[in-house]
Amino acid sequence: MKIGNKNLIAGNWKMNGLKKDLSFLHNLLLFIKNKKLKSTEVLICPPFTLIDTFSNLSKNTPLKIGAQDCHFEESGAYTGEISANMLKNLGVSYVILGHSERRGYYKENNHLINSKIKIAQKSGLKTILCIGETLSERKKNSTLRVIGRQIKDSLKGNIDPMNLEIAYEPVWAIGTGRIPSAEDIFLVHAFIKDKLDSFYGKKAKNIRILYGGSVNSKNISSIFGIDNVTGALIGGGSLKISEFKSLVTQSIKY
Ligand code: 13P
Repeated sequence: MKIGNKNLIAGNWKMNGLKKDLSFLHNLLLFIKNKKLKSTEVLICPPFTLIDTFSNLSKNTPLKIGAQDCHFEESGAYTGEISANMLKNLGVSYVILGHSERRGYYKENNHLINSKIKIAQKSGLKTILCIGETLSERKKNSTLRVIGRQIKDSLKGNIDPMNLEIAYEPVWAIGTGRIPSAEDIFLVHAFIKDKLDSFYGKKAKNIRILYGGSVNSKNISSIFGIDNVTGALIGGGSLKISEFKSLVTQSIKY
């Protein structure tokens, strides 16, 4: 449900996408041009290698381009890394931080993610903080405790709520075709909203709370019908143009 600001439909391409996939972008740009996107903001986060091209082609269009990660320092001797400044320099608007795949494979913790959010915001990027519980945490009834800690520790210190979005992505729902019940999504999103309200007061209303994990064209309507769901972060469903267009179209209604 939309609360004042636009819904955000964000595609996270993860480690997918080659030059030949430019046809996806051309198709999407044409589609967006012909749609009235008053209630929805559309974002694509391709791999680093495609950002420059995607960003150039999307200039002066409503489509936003984002990155999937950035480094925690502004610049320096960090071989192979990409800074938030470099992304900003390419015209990137958003950066996803703390995705569970980065937490899992690269052992990123809340403290590191907090540094990344700060440097990204300092560079003028909007930040999407990903949080979510594993299956074993859910089974132990620790979901809210885990999420509460992720929010508290990742948002420590001077964070700008005007450049912040949260994506609730249960780890066990990512790429599995399984999603939590509507009631579970409702409970977690309400919990996140309460936390944000207590941190940021009135400014918290600017923060969108996205749901992510196996979102597809068949389940998006019911997910968007849940209170405090103000967007979706989509992996697999953002890679096929027909599926992604259907997701955008359905989100416009909410
Ligand atoms: P899937 O939509 O493929 O489950 O991935 C979700 C995700 O991790 C988005 O960041």
